[in-house]
Amino acid sequence: MSDTIQKYKDYVMTGFLKSVVPIVIDHASGATVTDVNGREYLDCFAGISVVNAGHCNPQVIAAAKKQMDKLVHCASYIYHVQPVADLAEKLAHIAPGGLSKTFFGNGGAEAIEGALKLARLYTGKHEFISLHASFHGRSWGALSITGNQGRKKRGGPYAPGIAFAPAPYVYRSQWPDDPEECGRQCAKAIDDVVRFATAGDVAAFIAEPVMGEGGILVPPGNYFKEVKKVLDQHGILFIADEVQSGFARTGKMFAIEYYGVEPDILVTAKGIADGFPLSAYTVRPEIAAAYKPGDHLSTFGGNPVSCAAALANIEFMEKENLPGRATELGNYAMGKLRDLQKQNPLIGEVRGLGLMIGVELIKDEKKTPGTAEAEAVRDSLLRQGVLVGVGGIYGNVVRFQPPLVISKEQLDRALAAFAAALSEVAQPVGA
Ligand SMILES: Cc1ncc(COP(=O)(O)O)c(C=O)c1O
Repeated sequence: MSDTIQKYKDYVMTGFLKSVVPIVIDHASGATVTDVNGREYLDCFAGISVVNAGHCNPQVIAAAKKQMDKLVHCASYIYHVQPVADLAEKLAHIAPGGLSKTFFGNGGAEAIEGALKLARLYTGKHEFISLHASFHGRSWGALSITGNQGRKKRGGPYAPGIAFAPAPYVYRSQWPDDPEECGRQCAKAIDDVVRFATAGDVAAFIAEPVMGEGGILVPPGNYFKEVKKVLDQHGILFIADEVQSGFARTGKMFAIEYYGVEPDILVTAKGIADGFPLSAYTVRPEIAAAYKPGDHLSTFGGNPVSCAAALANIEFMEKENLPGRATELGNYAMGKLRDLQKQNPLIGEVRGLGLMIGVELIKDEKKTPGTAEAEAVRDSLLRQGVLVGVGGIYGNVVRFQPPLVISKEQLDRALAAFAAALSEVAQPVGA
């Protein structure tokens, strides 16, 4: 056993995982990572959908190094620091309508917590509505609004004042062939939830514009417009959790842009700084004004190196049109995967936006989740030198979320490996 793996066993807490993938990553570039033995892997998971501009993107690294030589930390909320100001200005330009003031934290869950706190301070209300199958992070507040027992087990009871509405999971809804009806009904259900499951004191509704951990669930095109009507009737804010779907991943800078509505609070992390730890929530000035002295802070929030990296990352995305690239390559990949679906009953559904793609595996016509099959596909892909994620509320969705700089040839290689993995898994045991 390698020294690194042994030290993980002895000194790193990992009991919350079935296992850690038994490879030791040494370095990475673009869409590939290389282990300590020199074996190269094609990375179709991007560090859980983080390195959208590619591993060790030269522009991002150069900006970070330049900043690192000048200033690493001096508490960005106690003093003024240039990269924080520049990045906040940039976010104000790219965020959906009117969101112009940002708070910076370090990770997704921290930003979610801050967004919930600010929503309560601004509205003076205390409850939240979230969705079944949602995931918003591992801190207690974030888990309280997470709609998945798999993530919540052994941590309860959770915060009171949170009600859940059905997810627009078209494929497993009553309307698998009518997404618009699914969108309408799921939005209407939020009205019922407000009326029957809350005290009428709802500060905000929170949703992921594309639900990542829930299994790459893409809400129908009408969903958020219908939802917004309900929210407006009740004076409820809309928090868009774009931690996973943001920063060009889905073919737009933010996935909510597909839906013709504007959130009141936009939460981001993961892809914001191409792997440097950073998160943010961005709001309208009047919402930001709800914070009063003493209400909030983060020692490491707005780290100058992360902010400099983020700015270079976003500029790279704009210059190289990464949203356009994600759309083009995503449509190409989903087309190929749908062709594969025609010959392969293991594939229940191929869905996604841009390069946020999920392939839901099923065992039979009753859509029994192919959970073991998804794990077997991931293991086969690993043996073939391709990294993918597995997720979904049943653990049966293979997730393709590669760096958006992946080449068409690399994508073809990943898709061929996936086809081979499926045939391997479809073989009866012992064949
Ligand atoms: C939609 C969403 N929100 C929040 C989080 C939590 O982010 P972090 O792991 O950085 O705390 C995640 C992480 O996967 C996520 O996908």
